[in-house]
Amino acid sequence: MEKTKIVYLDHAATTPMSNEVYMDMIEACGNIYGNSHSLYGVGRDAEKALSEARAKIAKAIGAEASEIYFTSGGTESDNWAIKGIARANRTKGNHIITSAVEHPAVLESCKALEKEGFRVTYVPVDDKGVIKYAELIKSISPDTILISIMSANNEVGTIQPIRAIAELAKANNIVFHTDAVQAVGAIDFDVKEMSIDAMSISAHKLYGPKGIGALYVRKGVRIEKFMNGGEQESNKRAGTVNVPAAVGFGKAIEIAVRDLEENNKHLRSIRRYFLKKISEAIHNISLNGHPTQRLANNASISFEGVEGESVLMMLDREGIYVSTGSACASGSLAPSHVLIAMGLDAEVAHSTIRFTFGKSTTKEDIDYVVERVRRVVKKLRSISAIRIYKNKVEL
Ligand SMILES: Cc1ncc(COP(=O)(O)O)c(C=O)c1O
Repeated sequence: MEKTKIVYLDHAATTPMSNEVYMDMIEACGNIYGNSHSLYGVGRDAEKALSEARAKIAKAIGAEASEIYFTSGGTESDNWAIKGIARANRTKGNHIITSAVEHPAVLESCKALEKEGFRVTYVPVDDKGVIKYAELIKSISPDTILISIMSANNEVGTIQPIRAIAELAKANNIVFHTDAVQAVGAIDFDVKEMSIDAMSISAHKLYGPKGIGALYVRKGVRIEKFMNGGEQESNKRAGTVNVPAAVGFGKAIEIAVRDLEENNKHLRSIRRYFLKKISEAIHNISLNGHPTQRLANNASISFEGVEGESVLMMLDREGIYVSTGSACASGSLAPSHVLIAMGLDAEVAHSTIRFTFGKSTTKEDIDYVVERVRRVVKKLRSISAIRIYKNKVEL
C-alpha cells in the first residue's frame, strides 16, 4: 500500500528537534548525570554544561549569563515573570497592562492576579493584530508597575512594536516583559539595546527539546521567587535543572540565531508561494494578520463557509498537520480570542486554519497541501449548511 505523505505545517505549536540538538542531548544524557548543585566531580561537570548552555542563551539575546534563569518552558516563564514581578513591586502600585491577544499563559496569569486585587488593562488591537498604541499610552497610570506585551503572536504572526513599547515603559519607570516564545529565532533580539526588562523563551519552538525554557530578567528588576525549595538558579527558581535539556536548548538557540537570516529567507519564499497557490486554487478566503510586520512562517487563513475543525480532521487523514484558530475549552469550541479581538466575527474565526511552515517545508509540500486543502474545502462547502443558507460562496 502507498504510504501517506506527511506534511507537518504546525511549527508554531512545536518544532521537530534538530539533529545537532539531538546529538548533543544524547551525549549529555549519557555522560552528564551529576546534579549540577553537587560539589564533587560529576556535579561540577553538570554545572559546567549548564553554564555553557546559559552563556549561549544569554549571547543569543544580548543578555548577561547571570540574567538567564532556566524554567520548564514558555508557560512557566510567563507565569513567573508576571506574577513574580507584580508581587515584588506591589508596594509601588497594583496596575498591570497587557494585550487582548496574548497567549493564555499571560492572560490566565493576569486573571489570577486580578483575584489577588491587582488591576489589569487588556489593551485592544487593530484588525491586523497590532496593539493600539494610543490606547496603551492612555492606560498608563501612576500605579502601573508592569507592561507585558508579546513580541509576536502565535496565531496570526503579527509582530508588535516592541522597541517603542519598551521605551514607553522605561520612560514611565515601568517594568517591561515580553513573551518572545514565537519570536526568538525569527527576530534579532538585543535585550539591552531594546530596553527589555524580562523575556520568556521556550526551547521547543526553536527545534530544541520540550519541557525547558528560560526567563531573562534584567539585573536590578525586582521579581519574587516562583518555586520554593533549594537554592538553584541563584536562589530564584528551585528544583534540579534538567541538564541534557538545557544543553539541547543552548544548542538550539545558537543555531536559531546563527541561521536566522537564511531561515527567514526560506520561510518568506515558502509563504509567498503558498499564498499564491492557495489564492489561485480557492475562492472566498481571507488572510489574517499584518501584511509586513509579521513572522515569515505563519499564514492564518479563513475559508468562508467551512468549519476549521472539519478541515483539520480531513487534512489529518491525508497526513497534513495544521491547526485551527479555535481553543477547545471544557468540551465547547470557543472561537479564538485573538481573531475575535482583531474584529473577525465568530463564524469567520471558526473557519480559520493556521499553517506554520518550517525549515524543512518544500514547494512540493505546498503543492501537495494546496491540492488537498482545495479538495477538502470544496467538499465541505458543497455540504455546508452555512453556504446553503447564504447561498453565496463559490465552490
Ligand atoms: C506565544 C506563546 N507563549 C507561550 C507559549 C507556551 O510555551 P510552552 O509550550 O513552552 O509552555 C506558547 C506556546 O504555544 C506561545 O506560542
